[in-house]
Amino acid sequence: MPNKTNKLKIDFLSNRLMHQLKYSWGVNQALPKAIGMHKNKNLTIIDATAGLGRDSFLLASLGAKIIMIERVEQIYAALKEAMEKAHNHSEKIAKIINNMQLIYGDAKDILPSLDPEIILIDVMHPVRKSALVKQEMRILRQIVGNDNDAKELINIALKLAKQRVVLKWPKKAKLPNGIINPSHKIIGKTTRYDVFITKQKL
Ligand SMILES: C[S@@+](CC[C@H](N)C(=O)[O-])C[C@H]1O[C@@H](n2cnc3c(N)ncnc32)[C@H](O)[C@@H]1O
Repeated sequence: MPNKTNKLKIDFLSNRLMHQLKYSWGVNQALPKAIGMHKNKNLTIIDATAGLGRDSFLLASLGAKIIMIERVEQIYAALKEAMEKAHNHSEKIAKIINNMQLIYGDAKDILPSLDPEIILIDVMHPVRKSALVKQEMRILRQIVGNDNDAKELINIALKLAKQRVVLKWPKKAKLPNGIINPSHKIIGKTTRYDVFITKQKL
């Protein structure tokens, strides 16, 4: 059973995130590129696995509208609180938060009602015994455990997304059996983005 005693802190105003936003973030980074933001910033993206909300926040900072889905109540509540705090911080941050909408529930049930174009999926990955796994991710893992239904979620997303599904995955890890091959991959330092183009060619 996951240990639920640890308090998860989500902070969109952390030095690390602010530094990244200011100095090393832009449409040519791996994630926005995988989403297609280097070609079009005016997109609506469903983040089916909101978690700590970092990916959503960073994409929203580039001008995308993000609908975030989180199914663990404790994480949903922490995200909601962090979004409210960040919204009250400054006009600049409020503009980013205004691009983010948070929904509580299981993405497998919610996705069909959203008529999604682009879906981002970043499930809890197999444990890495690395000092690089940050404290917040460790607490998140204690709360969430493993997302054992990842394959089901990916296949639902692949059926529904009208443009693309982007799957964030550890660089060298295999995809679960039963998932089709991606259209292309964007490879970062420790992370790989598998991009599945679902748009039908006319
Ligand atoms: C690895 S974290 C995501 C981290 C996130 N990308 C970030 O930038 O902070 C995975 C999260 O997805 C949530 N999750 C997994 N499967 C889900 C589903 N089917 N519906 C909604 N949330 C889901 C988990 O509860 C967990 O909070």
